[in-house]
Amino acid sequence: MADSIDEIIGKYSNTNRNDLLDALQDTQDFAGYLSEEVITKIGKHFNLASAKIYGIASFYDQFRFLPQGKFHIKICNGTACHLSESKPIQKELEKLLKIKAGQTTRDGLFSIEEVACLGSCGLAPVIAINGEFYPSMKPAEIRDILDNLKKSDA
Ligand code: FES
Repeated sequence: MADSIDEIIGKYSNTNRNDLLDALQDTQDFAGYLSEEVITKIGKHFNLASAKIYGIASFYDQFRFLPQGKFHIKICNGTACHLSESKPIQKELEKLLKIKAGQTTRDGLFSIEEVACLGSCGLAPVIAINGEFYPSMKPAEIRDILDNLKKSDA
Protein backbone atom coordinates (compact mmCIF):
# COMPACT_ATOMS: atom_id res chain seq x y z
CA MET A 1 0.00 0.00 0.00
CA ALA A 2 1.40 3.35 -1.03
CA ASP A 3 1.89 6.04 1.60
CA SER A 4 1.48 9.11 -0.55
CA ILE A 5 0.19 10.50 -3.80
CA ASP A 6 3.77 11.06 -4.96
CA GLU A 7 4.59 7.42 -4.35
CA ILE A 8 1.55 6.28 -6.36
CA ILE A 9 2.29 8.56 -9.28
CA GLY A 10 5.96 7.56 -9.17
CA LYS A 11 4.98 3.96 -10.02
CA TYR A 12 4.07 5.10 -13.51
CA SER A 13 7.11 5.74 -15.59
CA ASN A 14 5.44 5.26 -18.96
CA THR A 15 3.50 8.30 -19.87
CA ASN A 16 0.90 6.74 -22.12
CA ARG A 17 -2.84 7.11 -21.74
CA ASN A 18 -3.35 3.76 -20.00
CA ASP A 19 -0.78 4.72 -17.39
CA LEU A 20 -2.49 8.06 -16.96
CA LEU A 21 -5.88 6.41 -16.36
CA ASP A 22 -4.33 3.92 -13.94
CA ALA A 23 -2.60 6.74 -12.08
CA LEU A 24 -5.88 8.66 -11.85
CA GLN A 25 -7.70 5.57 -10.58
CA ASP A 26 -5.01 4.71 -8.04
CA THR A 27 -4.78 8.23 -6.68
CA GLN A 28 -8.56 8.45 -6.45
CA ASP A 29 -8.68 5.11 -4.58
CA PHE A 30 -6.08 6.50 -2.20
CA ALA A 31 -7.46 10.01 -1.68
CA GLY A 32 -11.19 9.42 -2.30
CA TYR A 33 -11.35 11.95 -5.14
CA LEU A 34 -9.20 13.87 -7.59
CA SER A 35 -8.41 17.19 -5.94
CA GLU A 36 -6.84 20.12 -7.78
CA GLU A 37 -3.57 19.32 -6.06
CA VAL A 38 -3.65 15.71 -7.29
CA ILE A 39 -4.51 16.77 -10.84
CA THR A 40 -1.61 19.25 -10.82
CA LYS A 41 0.83 16.60 -9.60
CA ILE A 42 -0.33 14.10 -12.18
CA GLY A 43 -0.12 16.77 -14.86
CA LYS A 44 3.50 17.50 -13.96
CA HIS A 45 4.39 13.81 -13.97
CA PHE A 46 2.76 13.13 -17.32
CA ASN A 47 3.82 16.46 -18.76
CA LEU A 48 0.23 17.50 -19.47
CA ALA A 49 -1.68 20.65 -18.55
CA SER A 50 -4.20 20.28 -15.71
CA ALA A 51 -6.99 21.26 -18.10
CA LYS A 52 -6.04 18.35 -20.33
CA ILE A 53 -6.13 15.94 -17.38
CA TYR A 54 -9.56 17.26 -16.36
CA GLY A 55 -10.74 16.84 -19.91
CA ILE A 56 -9.63 13.22 -20.04
CA ALA A 57 -10.82 12.28 -16.54
CA SER A 58 -14.23 13.88 -16.92
CA PHE A 59 -14.85 11.67 -19.93
CA TYR A 60 -15.03 8.69 -17.55
CA ASP A 61 -17.87 8.28 -15.05
CA GLN A 62 -15.73 6.74 -12.34
CA PHE A 63 -13.69 9.84 -11.57
CA ARG A 64 -14.89 12.34 -9.01
CA PHE A 65 -13.54 15.82 -8.42
CA LEU A 66 -15.16 16.48 -5.05
CA PRO A 67 -14.97 14.40 -1.87
CA GLN A 68 -17.84 12.02 -1.14
CA GLY A 69 -20.82 13.64 0.53
CA LYS A 70 -21.50 13.43 4.25
CA PHE A 71 -24.24 11.03 3.20
CA HIS A 72 -22.90 8.69 0.56
CA ILE A 73 -25.70 6.89 -1.26
CA LYS A 74 -24.98 3.65 -3.06
CA ILE A 75 -27.65 2.71 -5.54
CA CYS A 76 -27.48 -0.91 -6.61
CA ASN A 77 -27.94 -1.65 -10.27
CA GLY A 78 -27.06 -5.32 -10.20
CA THR A 79 -29.32 -7.81 -11.96
CA ALA A 80 -31.74 -8.42 -9.08
CA CYS A 81 -32.10 -4.71 -8.33
CA HIS A 82 -32.28 -3.75 -11.98
CA LEU A 83 -35.10 -6.26 -12.54
CA SER A 84 -36.84 -4.79 -9.48
CA GLU A 85 -36.86 -1.31 -11.01
CA SER A 86 -33.79 0.28 -9.47
CA LYS A 87 -33.39 2.76 -12.35
CA PRO A 88 -36.45 4.86 -11.44
CA ILE A 89 -35.04 5.07 -7.89
CA GLN A 90 -31.73 6.33 -9.24
CA LYS A 91 -33.53 8.83 -11.47
CA GLU A 92 -35.49 10.16 -8.49
CA LEU A 93 -32.31 10.51 -6.43
CA GLU A 94 -30.58 12.33 -9.25
CA LYS A 95 -33.57 14.59 -9.83
CA LEU A 96 -34.01 15.56 -6.18
CA LEU A 97 -30.31 16.06 -5.51
CA LYS A 98 -29.62 17.64 -8.92
CA ILE A 99 -26.51 15.51 -9.42
CA LYS A 100 -25.67 12.38 -11.36
CA ALA A 101 -24.21 9.15 -10.03
CA GLY A 102 -20.52 9.74 -9.36
CA GLN A 103 -21.11 13.33 -8.21
CA THR A 104 -21.41 15.20 -4.92
CA THR A 105 -23.85 18.00 -4.14
CA ARG A 106 -22.26 21.46 -3.89
CA ASP A 107 -23.05 21.68 -0.19
CA GLY A 108 -21.08 18.46 0.33
CA LEU A 109 -24.05 16.75 1.94
CA PHE A 110 -24.88 14.02 -0.58
CA SER A 111 -23.07 11.91 -3.14
CA ILE A 112 -24.39 9.09 -5.29
CA GLU A 113 -22.54 6.02 -6.46
CA GLU A 114 -23.96 3.36 -8.75
CA VAL A 115 -22.73 -0.11 -7.77
CA ALA A 116 -23.00 -3.55 -9.36
CA CYS A 117 -24.31 -5.48 -6.34
CA LEU A 118 -24.59 -4.67 -2.65
CA GLY A 119 -24.64 -8.35 -1.76
CA SER A 120 -28.22 -8.27 -0.52
CA CYS A 121 -30.16 -9.25 -3.62
CA GLY A 122 -33.07 -10.56 -1.53
CA LEU A 123 -33.72 -6.94 -0.49
CA ALA A 124 -33.92 -5.68 -4.08
CA PRO A 125 -34.19 -2.96 -5.03
CA VAL A 126 -31.85 -1.69 -2.38
CA ILE A 127 -29.83 1.42 -1.61
CA ALA A 128 -27.26 1.89 1.13
CA ILE A 129 -26.56 5.21 2.81
CA ASN A 130 -23.33 5.33 4.80
CA GLY A 131 -23.59 1.55 5.09
CA GLU A 132 -27.22 1.44 6.24
CA PHE A 133 -29.44 -0.61 3.92
CA TYR A 134 -32.85 0.55 2.72
CA PRO A 135 -34.64 -2.52 1.31
CA SER A 136 -37.45 -2.81 -1.27
CA MET A 137 -37.15 0.84 -2.17
CA LYS A 138 -39.71 2.78 -4.14
CA PRO A 139 -39.04 6.12 -5.88
CA ALA A 140 -41.79 7.78 -3.83
CA GLU A 141 -39.89 7.02 -0.61
CA ILE A 142 -36.71 8.83 -1.62
CA ARG A 143 -37.86 12.37 -0.79
CA ASP A 144 -38.68 11.50 2.85
CA ILE A 145 -35.39 9.71 3.32
CA LEU A 146 -33.42 12.69 2.01
CA ASP A 147 -35.48 15.12 4.11
CA ASN A 148 -34.83 13.07 7.24
CA LEU A 149 -31.11 12.98 6.54
CA LYS A 150 -31.07 16.75 6.02
CA LYS A 151 -32.92 17.22 9.32
CA SER A 152 -30.50 14.94 11.13
CA ASP A 153 -27.68 17.16 9.89
CA ALA A 154 -29.29 20.45 10.99
S1 FES B 1 -28.24 -6.95 -7.30
FE1 FES B 1 -28.70 -5.40 -5.87
S2 FES B 1 -28.02 -6.24 -4.00
FE2 FES B 1 -27.45 -7.72 -5.47
